[in-house]
Parts: sequence; C-alpha cells; structure tokens
Amino acid sequence: MSEVLLQATGVTAGYGLVPAIQGIDLTLRAGEVVTLLGPNGAGKTTTLLALTGLLPISSGSVQALGIPVKAGRATKLSRAGTILVPDDRGVFPDLTVSEHFRLVDSRRRRERMARVLDAFPALAKLTGRRAGLLSGGEQQMLAIAKSLLAGPRILMVDEMSLGLAPIIVQEMLPGIAALAREEGFAVLLVEQHVAIALSVSDRALVLSQGRPVLEDSAAALLADPSRVETAYFGAVSA
Ligand SMILES: Nc1ncnc2c1ncn2[C@@H]1O[C@H](COP(=O)(O)OP(=O)(O)OP(=O)(O)O)[C@@H](O)[C@H]1O
Ligand SMILES: [Mg+2]
Repeated sequence: MSEVLLQATGVTAGYGLVPAIQGIDLTLRAGEVVTLLGPNGAGKTTTLLALTGLLPISSGSVQALGIPVKAGRATKLSRAGTILVPDDRGVFPDLTVSEHFRLVDSRRRRERMARVLDAFPALAKLTGRRAGLLSGGEQQMLAIAKSLLAGPRILMVDEMSLGLAPIIVQEMLPGIAALAREEGFAVLLVEQHVAIALSVSDRALVLSQGRPVLEDSAAALLADPSRVETAYFGAVSA
C-alpha cells in the first residue's frame, strides 16, 4: 500500500450551529485519485475547506502530510504541498498565462512545464494571452496547470468542470490523473461529470446532506451507476 498523505476521521464542520458536514472519513494515498460526489449543497466544498484548514473542524481530526490540520494552518499546509483549486479559479486578469506560470516558485518548473502543458494542449496555444481575456474554462485550466507546476503533494480541485464542456474535462482529467500516478501526489476531485470523473479515479465518496452515503472503488461504481444515482438522493446508507 502506498503512503497515506491525508487521513480524515469523523470530520464535522459548518458555518454556524448546524453542521454542514458530519462524520466524514477519508484517506488519500500517494498516487491516488479520489472523487467526491453529491448533489448541490451536499457539503463537497465544505469538505475541501475543512481538509485544508480553511474552515474550523468542530469534531473529528485531519492529518495532512504529517501535519494536524487546524484552522489557521492553511499557509503551513499549502507550503507543505496541499493545494486547493477553488471553483472560482482565482486567476489574475491582467497577467498573461506565461506570467502566471512565472509566479510559481519551483526549481522543477522548467522541466515540469512541457509535461503540464501536455495535459492542457488548449492552454499551450494561449501563453501570451491575459487571463482576463480567457474563457471560463481556459481560466480553470490555467488555475489547475499553475497548481500542477508548483509540484503538489495533495491536489484538491473543486468543480473543475464548472463552465467547461464535458469534452474538455474528458481531455484534461486523464492528464492530471497520469501525472498524479507518475509523481505520487494524491488528487481529490469534486466533479459533476460523474462518469468522466469515475473513469480516471480509484475511488469515490458520495455525500448527501453533509453525510457520507456511499464509498467504493470507481470500477465498482462505474459497473453499477444506479448505486451512485440512489446515493445522490440519500436513500442508501454507507
Ligand atoms: N459561507 C457559508 N455560510 C453559511 N452556510 C454555508 C456557507 N457555505 C455553504 N453553506 C451551506 O453549507 C451546505 C453545504 O454547502 P457546500 O458549498 O459545501 O455544498 P456543495 O456540495 O459544494 O454544493 P455545490 O455542488 O452547489 O457546490 C449548504 O447547505 C450551504 O448552503
Ligand atoms: Mg461546491
């Protein structure tokens, strides 16, 4: 078994008195791609925030790269290689694609560049363009490519497909997954395109109303998609 990079046990977190997520258990191992699925409002984004120290945990525990995750440690965690790509992309409109890449402080950036651009052929043609002029999908590609250049150890991507045509997601995800397996970093994806996500994942966890309702290997879930559909409506318990 590969090294455990992240271990979450019984994580409960939220924004007020009512928890938005409850009892989340999750393990991410080196080179593994895991997808977090669930309907709108199920708690997927909240889970990513809790796992990266951006939202306080009210009970349970998270260890990432040997660091106990607590609110206020987000910077330490990101320096250690835990990278979250939010669904609003966070690119700088006035900087070009190349300038974004130059922001990445990585000695391996040059050697990684070709490999990362291979995963994003559309982006390779746009290196001189300012991010503000890119389409939403292209901005998302830029945000992910920049994260990959930095050499993540745990990469979490929230709704990469937001604003992206399924065909682009289908082209991008295998590249990210291949890089993860080759370099041994872990990927936690939040995705709406269930079948595409499962096709590149090792495992998936389905949330419904803030609780885990189904976890299995991606192969098993692809073989019986009705299990995922049922879990979306919260009718199945884990
Ligand atoms: N900042 C916030 N303040 C209060 N409640 C919030 C906040 N953000 C999210 N919530 C609530 O927490 C619950 C989980 O939201 P979350 O954003 O994690 O869902 P999600 O699975 O990412 O949904 P989506 O697929 O729509 O992105 C929802 O009921 C949502 O309304
Ligand atoms: Mg969300």
